[in-house]
Amino acid sequence: MTTGPYCAPLADAVAARVLLAAAMLPVADLEASQVELLGAWSSGELVGVIGLECHGRDALLRSLAVCAERRGQGIGTRLVGALEARARGAGVERLWLLTETAASFFAARGYRRVDRAAAPAALAASREFAALCPATATCMARTLTPLRA
Ligand SMILES: CC(C)(COP(=O)(O)OP(=O)(O)OC[C@H]1O[C@@H](n2cnc3c(N)ncnc32)[C@H](O)[C@@H]1OP(=O)(O)O)[C@@H](O)C(=O)NCCC(=O)NCCS
Repeated sequence: MTTGPYCAPLADAVAARVLLAAAMLPVADLEASQVELLGAWSSGELVGVIGLECHGRDALLRSLAVCAERRGQGIGTRLVGALEARARGAGVERLWLLTETAASFFAARGYRRVDRAAAPAALAASREFAALCPATATCMARTLTPLRA
């Protein structure tokens, strides 16, 4: 039986904030932007977090961080997979993200660079797009394959 980290919804944002702040990612708008957080746990300890911010059929993948001493063990990849499954279940067709630090990580996982101006209006108006991520951040997107009927 595998005892590796598992992913599940995270109700308490306090521990997530600690992880995100340590990775220097924005936490100011977590509640206001109605971000659904997923956590990765190992031996009862929160070791990673990722956030889904839905805007209709488009959604923002954001707030991905793995604690420094557990990086390189597949936890980030597992969190992205868990978030994509969650998004598909919620009817999301396209995931978007902004990153200053991990463009090649996402490129290796099916995300393609896109012009930030191509983002739909609701996403462009989100605080992450409009205020929190610098204009120099790389914008990426991935179309999700739909769930089979
Ligand atoms: C990016 C991050 C979430 C990856 O998590 P992780 O658990 O280490 O990733 P995994 O173990 O699943 O994948 C490791 C692979 O990703 C690559 N990788 C890890 N961090 C990377 C980064 N910042 N940029 C590019 N590639 C990265 C590794 O080189 C490795 O590649 P390989 O599979 O070819 O060997 C983690 O490094 C992190 O928390 N970074 C700080 C916060 C951050 O930059 N978040 C993204 C903001 S949008």
